[in-house]
Amino acid sequence: MNNDKLYSCVAHMEAAAQRRIPGFARDYLVNGISRGVSVRKNRDSLDSVELMPRYLQEADRPSLRCHFLGKEYNAPFGVAPMGLSGLVWPNSERILAAAAKAQGIPYTLSTVATISLEEARKVAGENAWFQLYTPQEPEVRNDILRRCQEAGYETVMVTVDVPFKTRRDHDIRNGLSVPPRFDLRTLWQMMTHPEWALRMLRVGVPQFVNLKPYHDAGQSSNVGRSIRESTKYIEERMGLHITRERFEEIRGQWPGKLLVKGVLDTEDAKAYMSLGADGLIVSNHGGRQLDAAPSTVSVLPHIRAAVGADVPLIADGGVRTGLDIARMLALGADFVLMGRPFLYAVAAMGSQGGEHVMGILKAELQSTMGQLGCPTLRELPGCLVSK
Ligand SMILES: Cc1cc2nc3c(=O)[nH]c(=O)nc-3n(C[C@H](O)[C@H](O)[C@H](O)COP(=O)(O)O)c2cc1C
Repeated sequence: MNNDKLYSCVAHMEAAAQRRIPGFARDYLVNGISRGVSVRKNRDSLDSVELMPRYLQEADRPSLRCHFLGKEYNAPFGVAPMGLSGLVWPNSERILAAAAKAQGIPYTLSTVATISLEEARKVAGENAWFQLYTPQEPEVRNDILRRCQEAGYETVMVTVDVPFKTRRDHDIRNGLSVPPRFDLRTLWQMMTHPEWALRMLRVGVPQFVNLKPYHDAGQSSNVGRSIRESTKYIEERMGLHITRERFEEIRGQWPGKLLVKGVLDTEDAKAYMSLGADGLIVSNHGGRQLDAAPSTVSVLPHIRAAVGADVPLIADGGVRTGLDIARMLALGADFVLMGRPFLYAVAAMGSQGGEHVMGILKAELQSTMGQLGCPTLRELPGCLVSK
């Protein structure tokens, strides 16, 4: 069967991905925090959003092109930052960065990615965005921002929803770390996923390359030592609470577009804008930080009302189809990010997965707009059925 038939939507790719990756990587990718309530809430609240079709309106060729943050994109969605993507599927960051460039959508590289920010910028070109987790030393943070500027990034998002060390039960049980702490169970998981294991052998053990220059063994040629130092560095020195003062410092250091990722509260939203943000990402981190967090869908309209029509707003969390993208735009977002769907696609289909899933999401969004009688993205809010 050809790929178009085999993987005609994200759900098909998700099912294949779950078979093709070892259990510890699957747990890391798929699960949320604690009991997974906020992951389910993201999904359920999207399902409850209704859009009204208007059959007398014409939308024969709905246009997905959009102008966002000073740039033209072929569609109003992009790849969310995902740390350790290279552990889920070897080379996935390169595959997704190249696919985003080819498809004309943004690709966001995480600080804790397994390829360097310089390489990601080369591969994704102007479509590369960078996500910042702040190290404790301001000099290190400033150096990362300097490297972003030198590499040619124009947009940086600072993630504010990890103010404390994250406790994910599955990852603790699996000993998830870089490198994975192998025991009989994880070794068995790797042996029973030979394609993943062979590719991992070929690409090499994933490392937090962006942080390598900042820890003692950064220049070490001993890979094992370098990885251990990197892990220690992250455990001890990363993940700082972004206070008002720290946010102002980051704003002072970064001359390009600065977005705030992880906003759920309307007062926070207004405060970040008054502190100089250029836009906000309404997000509960895909249900991975606080299980009692509200879903994006439930807060997005309130945040739009609070900040006004002109503030660039991005939304993410649970989006799996072009219809879901239309739902987020109808609720007030200007742009949408997705995380897991892109890694499902790469784990299912390898190097073809990135472009394939992006093409499917575009086709689904176009078909949704055609069905609604909505020729442009701007008109989607008019389709929302208010409750
Ligand atoms: C495996 C994985 C790793 C992630 N790593 C990061 C990260 O390094 N930085 C960050 O700001 N968000 C991170 N996120 C959150 C995503 O950027 C995004 O908010 C979330 O995945 C959206 O939900 P979705 O996966 O349902 O689309 C991660 C998400 C996943 C699934």
